[in-house]
Amino acid sequence: MKILTLFVTFFFFFFLLCTEPVIRFPFRIRTRQNESCGYQGFDLSCDGANQTILELPSSGQLTVQAIEYAEQEIWVNDPEGCLPKRLLSLDFSGSPFTGVYNQNFTFFNCSSSYLTYDLNPIACLSGSNYTVFATSSPRVVRNVSSCVLVKTVPVPVEWPFFEQVLSSDLSNHLRLQWGTPRCRRCVVRGGRCGLKGNSTTEIECTSIPQRVSGIPRGARYAIVVGVGVPAILFVLGLLCFLCGRVKSIVRGRRPIIGEFATAVAPHSVVISGLDRVVIESYPKIVLGESKRLPKPDDSTCPICLADYQPKETLKTIPQCNHCFHADCIDEWLRMNATCPVCRNPPPQ
Ligand SMILES: *[C@@H]1O[C@H](CO)[C@@H](O)[C@H](O)[C@H]1NC(C)=O
Ligand SMILES: *[C@@H]1O[C@H](CO)[C@@H](O)[C@H](O)[C@H]1NC(C)=O
Repeated sequence: MKILTLFVTFFFFFFLLCTEPVIRFPFRIRTRQNESCGYQGFDLSCDGANQTILELPSSGQLTVQAIEYAEQEIWVNDPEGCLPKRLLSLDFSGSPFTGVYNQNFTFFNCSSSYLTYDLNPIACLSGSNYTVFATSSPRVVRNVSSCVLVKTVPVPVEWPFFEQVLSSDLSNHLRLQWGTPRCRRCVVRGGRCGLKGNSTTEIECTSIPQRVSGIPRGARYAIVVGVGVPAILFVLGLLCFLCGRVKSIVRGRRPIIGEFATAVAPHSVVISGLDRVVIESYPKIVLGESKRLPKPDDSTCPICLADYQPKETLKTIPQCNHCFHADCIDEWLRMNATCPVCRNPPPQ
């Protein structure tokens, strides 16, 4: 009996859904679900290619690529594969959706000989003797002179661009959001959002898992603060530590495996550097304006990889004559008793 129920449920879901994404309230598949399963304006359908389709009242069909119920966001694209063409006449009026991040793009239509510099043509809008591109950069808009300005439209981009986009083929999914119905809190709490009774606008949140709703809100905050904050500090501390180790690997070019072992088990690190008196005893020179070096070929500190500058203090390891910034080699020798370049132990 159980198996039969499972089978029926499976079959039901398989039949119910197109492919991805999972359809839940406020969305519904118009032909397959009762009207009370969805909210007004959120009707979806399946097309012949088994794609989930959202129909906008004022500008036709879009394929649904993903739905984030907790964020109240939906990602859509063009079923015909030419999203820029749709963008030229996209109109969300009459639908519950708006862009999350809108960015204005200006479309230009140029003779194909025009595009000499690095602009990204929109292949599906271009022909053999003309090329269409879109830019969000006012500088490009000002400088494009011999092309026909087609239109400037707001594009609901996936991510906000902090810099102006020189040109884009605008093929990425569009990211939209909805405000009503507000099921965000219910979804986050693991509940089931739906229409209340026979209402067509009022919603209710049911089946919230007991464990989550049973903990008073104050206690939840206390847990978040009590566990979350120390955890974040611990992770940050660990990152800083690992970062420091990685830097020292890069600088010292030591075998990574040995270094990794010490990073993973910090308590096993034995600091076996040289004595301060020994380090102090190594010969120092201060570079003059001419930057004349003890070894003319070595103009770069092997530890920090920076070029030596006039007035900087360098230090040499006497045994091997390798030269470094005094600060760099002092720090190194406090931790390691070998020359970072040739690995020979300096005299103690
Ligand atoms: C886009 O352009 C319209 C008018 O052309 C303007 O009102 C709007 O503020 C612009 N949006 C952005 C994000 O620049
Ligand atoms: C671009 O211009 C050509 C003619 O030069 C025209 O046929 C085409 O429809 C135009 N495209 C757009 C997107 O305006």
